[in-house]
Amino acid sequence: MTRRYYVTTPIYYVNGAPHIGHAYTSVAADAIARFKRLAGFDVFFLTGTDEHGQKVEQAAEAKGMQPQAFADAVAADFRDMYDTMDISYDDFIRTTEPRHVQAAQALWKKLEENGHIYLGAYEGWYATRDECFYGEEELIDGPDGRKVAPTGAAVEWVKEPSYFFNLSKFGDRLLELYETRPGFIEPASRRNEVKSFVKQGLRDLSVSRTSFNWGIPVPGDPKHVMYVWVDALANYLSTVGYPDETAARWAFWPPNLHLVGKDILRFHAIYWPALLMAADLPLPERVFSHGWWTIEGQKMSKSLGNVVDPRDLVKTFGLDAIRFFLMREMPFGGDSDLSRRAIIMRMNVELANDLGNLAQRTLSQVARNCEGKLPAQGKQTDEDRELLATASLLPDIMHQQIDRQALTDALEEVWKLIRACNAYIDHQAPWKLKKTDPERMADVLRVLADALRIIATVLQPYMPGSMDRMLTQLGVEKGERDFAALDTPLPAGRALPKPEGVFPRYEEPEAS
Ligand code: ME8
Ligand code: MG
Repeated sequence: MTRRYYVTTPIYYVNGAPHIGHAYTSVAADAIARFKRLAGFDVFFLTGTDEHGQKVEQAAEAKGMQPQAFADAVAADFRDMYDTMDISYDDFIRTTEPRHVQAAQALWKKLEENGHIYLGAYEGWYATRDECFYGEEELIDGPDGRKVAPTGAAVEWVKEPSYFFNLSKFGDRLLELYETRPGFIEPASRRNEVKSFVKQGLRDLSVSRTSFNWGIPVPGDPKHVMYVWVDALANYLSTVGYPDETAARWAFWPPNLHLVGKDILRFHAIYWPALLMAADLPLPERVFSHGWWTIEGQKMSKSLGNVVDPRDLVKTFGLDAIRFFLMREMPFGGDSDLSRRAIIMRMNVELANDLGNLAQRTLSQVARNCEGKLPAQGKQTDEDRELLATASLLPDIMHQQIDRQALTDALEEVWKLIRACNAYIDHQAPWKLKKTDPERMADVLRVLADALRIIATVLQPYMPGSMDRMLTQLGVEKGERDFAALDTPLPAGRALPKPEGVFPRYEEPEAS
């Protein structure tokens, strides 16, 4: 039986250019998707853009553009950012595509058919920035004394005819879901926030708007457009062929993982499972919500002018340094700060020193002292065996961590081994053995080459480009780079290319 894995990112609003926050979630999902592929899974990695709604309509207007033309331009820019970040998505959905419009309308009809939609009138608060309805009791005092959303977004009083989804009927089933499947929302701290929100009682959800047009028409009542969150969430269904359950991709349903930022947990952990229950569909396995990036200690915002385009960072530091930084710096579920200093620190200490030097020292000695050929596996000492045993456990240990989205812990596990290899090479001192015991020297270098092969193999999901180069230098051919291939040792005597440093140190340009 094929083992399938379906992972998603949020689909991002096209109201503005892609920034480091979008890149973060997508690199994390990419690392997970790549890891599962290496482990032999058939992966469907979905991402895309959320193009309807008032917020996008207003952004287009501000640029003097038609919303569709505006969305086309920004969606193209997102794809460009993805190319730069080497995101290996399998599909990129845009909510203005016909396949999505069809699926979203089919979902609506199903909800209606099942008796979960009724016509009424909405009167209450709405924050366009969040595309979210808020209850009066959720609002807080803004800086100028006016009421704002808990996120700080401005709210306006909305009064219009609206269809409703009877969300209030799903409270008990949702609470039961959180109880019986605790892994459904991770991390646990956020699960508790969601639970207490649901326990306070849910109001029915307004799911259509009549005061603007930029959205998917409600089937049978085109004066209404669908609420943008119902439209957006349906993307996870439209890409696997919904409502056609004979579509090839339907086999991927339900998703194994929705990776989201903590800002949109409510939509994924409450509205989404309720909508799926109402449509008689199997529920996703897991919603993981990660923390928030600040920039040099400050909230990222257009008004502060500190919005970071990941492509600029890549130009300065290189792609894999940035991918590594993003995955290494933000702890499992927590928040983190992006600063120039922290990036340079990670590059120079962990990449250039710890890993880069280890590879360079090992490979340059093989080049110099073993005629550039991979030595045979020799007689192993206890120290050799211990190091290789630790290395061989790495893929499985990391796999468990990756399944919990503990991407940072998984890296820490690799670095433990890298540090052990550095202690090993210092202690064995193969450069001294060259004169005293050349046979042992070759054995030691082979142990290091084997450990490095495992290290470079498991790091591919994080740093695909650099690990491609490192594996090539280690003599590992393209077909020998997944986890299953690690069971077969590389043949002795394989000629290795001339070693070249993979991770240069970053030197600050002299201030002029
Ligand atoms: O919410 N730190 O789109 P969006 C970490 N269209 N992650 C960040 C971040 C930051 N500072 N800023 C943004 C939407 N993100 C909806 C989603 S899904 C069916 C619809 C990331 O463009 C994070 O993943 O506002 C967050 O959840 C997402 O961008 C919000 O993107
Ligand atoms: Mg947002």
